[in-house]
Amino acid sequence: MTITNDPTRLLLVAGMTLAYAAVCLAPLLRQRRKRVAARRALAEAAQSPGWIVAYASQTGNAEELAAQTLATLRLAGIPAQLSELSDLVAADLQRAERVLFLVSTYGEGDAPDGAAVFAGRLMGSAVPLPHLHYAVLALGDRAYAHFCGFGRALDRWLEQQGAQALFPRIEVDRSAASAVAQWRQQLSHLAGTSDAPDWSAPAFAGWRLAARRVLNPGSAGAPLYHLELEAPDGAAADWQSGDLVQIAAPADAERPREYSIASVPADGRVHLLVRLHTHDDGSHGVASGWLGLQAQVGGTVQLRLRQHRRFRLEDNAERPLILIGNGSGIAGLRGHLKARVLAGRHRNWLLFGERNAQHDYLYRDELDAWQRAGLRLDMVFSRDQEQRLYVQDRLLANADELRLWIAEGAAIYICGSLDGMAAGVDAALREILGPEALDALAAAGRYRRDVY
Ligand SMILES: Cc1cc2nc3c(=O)[nH]c(=O)nc-3n(C[C@H](O)[C@H](O)[C@H](O)COP(=O)(O)OP(=O)(O)OC[C@H]3O[C@@H](n4cnc5c(N)ncnc54)[C@H](O)[C@@H]3O)c2cc1C
Ligand SMILES: Cc1cc2nc3c(=O)[nH]c(=O)nc-3n(C[C@H](O)[C@H](O)[C@H](O)COP(=O)(O)O)c2cc1C
Repeated sequence: MTITNDPTRLLLVAGMTLAYAAVCLAPLLRQRRKRVAARRALAEAAQSPGWIVAYASQTGNAEELAAQTLATLRLAGIPAQLSELSDLVAADLQRAERVLFLVSTYGEGDAPDGAAVFAGRLMGSAVPLPHLHYAVLALGDRAYAHFCGFGRALDRWLEQQGAQALFPRIEVDRSAASAVAQWRQQLSHLAGTSDAPDWSAPAFAGWRLAARRVLNPGSAGAPLYHLELEAPDGAAADWQSGDLVQIAAPADAERPREYSIASVPADGRVHLLVRLHTHDDGSHGVASGWLGLQAQVGGTVQLRLRQHRRFRLEDNAERPLILIGNGSGIAGLRGHLKARVLAGRHRNWLLFGERNAQHDYLYRDELDAWQRAGLRLDMVFSRDQEQRLYVQDRLLANADELRLWIAEGAAIYICGSLDGMAAGVDAALREILGPEALDALAAAGRYRRDVY
């Protein structure tokens, strides 16, 4: 095709390119304005001289503890400011007198999504911080090879910049109450208060397992159970699409497991989609085995609702949505699709990957009905053709359309496995949109992930 000698087309192409660039830049500018405002507030707080409570959190644990830390400081009359780590710049750290960092670790010893910019840009450079006093609460899980990897790296970097630790880093293995109590004690000591507010997490409650069915009989993959749970009588069941539950299985109640909610409050029940985990020796996963095989329908399951702010619709409720996932990841995406249908918003694009259409077309009737109502549906069955195909391949094949949706303001939600799917999709999005544009979308809350 030659367009160079056709001035009308040339103008058209130039116009479209400019429009696309403008739409891509808009979130960057908005985000910049937001950061400038946050920075101004931080600078004022630093001059007061207040403390900064900075958090980096993926599923909300560190964020919750940061909010409790802030409440304790304020109760003691200390002016303090809450900030997401990525909203801090070098000058904030240089001006601030005391910063308390509460950070979790993701991937393989990496920063949570929201702190990637801080980790990449700031921690990659030298920032003299001789006046800064700080403390680190590092959240992690000893089951991972790089326990508290990001918290440790942050602590090391702060020390190298000349900052002084108020007390040694405290590491939390999952939600170990003893480590949190230690942090709370140090805080009370620093703040000079003995009446810190109660920090206990909301209690588990016995929810009734009202229904359970296998969604993928005959599948080449492990069984996937659809579960429906009812709140105990009189209990407020307050959640939004995107939120999580924690389940305490009787055999390991100390270490609850997270599951994405697949329903909306209007359903009257919390729906979960649980993949049965089987260990190498043939035994089943503690929580998935309990939920799929042992818990009795009609009996109770110990459950706690958890806000998952990073994966909620929030400001994206009015935007077109691109939902991408695989396997049990349909859970979090189904919650959002249900919410969208209820709100009468039909500009949704679901790209979903499983193995074979015959056995793994999860929630097919529902998806078909939503498709008739306007859902753009791309089901990618990896093993239904000779060459293995995944959602990231389908994304690359639809690159122009994806750019168009983004130019129209769409937000991207990813749910499912971190290895393979989420990493592959991230690489595809980087290729299609460019790394800066994807980082800007993430910073603007238009690229959100619930991956595990
Ligand atoms: C944010 C989030 C959302 C999730 N959503 C869903 C969902 O919607 N559906 C779903 O099916 N799953 C979901 N999961 C995964 C789920 O939480 C469980 O991890 C999964 O069900 C396996 O738990 P299990 O108790 O059955 O297996 P486990 O008994 O925990 O075993 C799983 C594997 O974890 C490792 N492991 C666990 N504990 C230890 C330990 N103490 N030491 C060493 N290794 C260990 C082992 O490699 C083991 O093979 C989600 C996870 C997260 C973080
Ligand atoms: C996919 C995934 C990867 C994780 N990787 C690590 C890790 O490498 N090291 C670690 O110590 N903890 C790891 N964790 C555990 C979390 O850090 C821990 O659950 C923490 O409490 C989460 O806090 P948050 O809710 O504030 O994000 C990982 C958790 C998930 C779900």
